[in-house]
Amino acid sequence: MYQFAIAENQDKPAFYRALAEALDALTAGEPDGIANMANAAALMWEYLPDLNWAGFYRAQGEVLVLGPFQGKAACIRIPFGKGVCGAAAASATAQLVADVHAFPGHIACDAASASELVVPVIRDGRVIAVIDLDSPTPGRFDAEDEAGITRLAGILADRIG
Ligand code: SME
Repeated sequence: MYQFAIAENQDKPAFYRALAEALDALTAGEPDGIANMANAAALMWEYLPDLNWAGFYRAQGEVLVLGPFQGKAACIRIPFGKGVCGAAAASATAQLVADVHAFPGHIACDAASASELVVPVIRDGRVIAVIDLDSPTPGRFDAEDEAGITRLAGILADRIG
């Protein structure tokens, strides 16, 4: 059993520092990328409030393929450039979407989703995966969430195979 002292009532930068330390401890020295993505999804799901989906899509050529996640069953294949995840993968930049219904081409995997944050995982200048977070609350994510999840993506870049 793993137990982490991650208080949810601290300010966001401190919260994300604690989350990053937990992820680093969980994944350090483990070569299996699927195991590391699965634990990262579980960690985000447990500690980030107000989510209805948290997980990974892995880049296979120019297509994103569903990876480990928590939440409802989701679309399996997303071409680069399609939807919020595809935009993050194609541009190699995070997508912070306050209202998914206003995002052209948004792919509704769960009708409850109202806002979304997608952060690319980049290794050697190449997008190897994206971290996708969905929330039922409009405007749930801000720049501090983006910075915090980007930190997690940095830890995972050479640990998700
Ligand atoms: N909404 C995403 C698709 C993935 S699901 O939210 C899990 C998108 O538009 O890329």
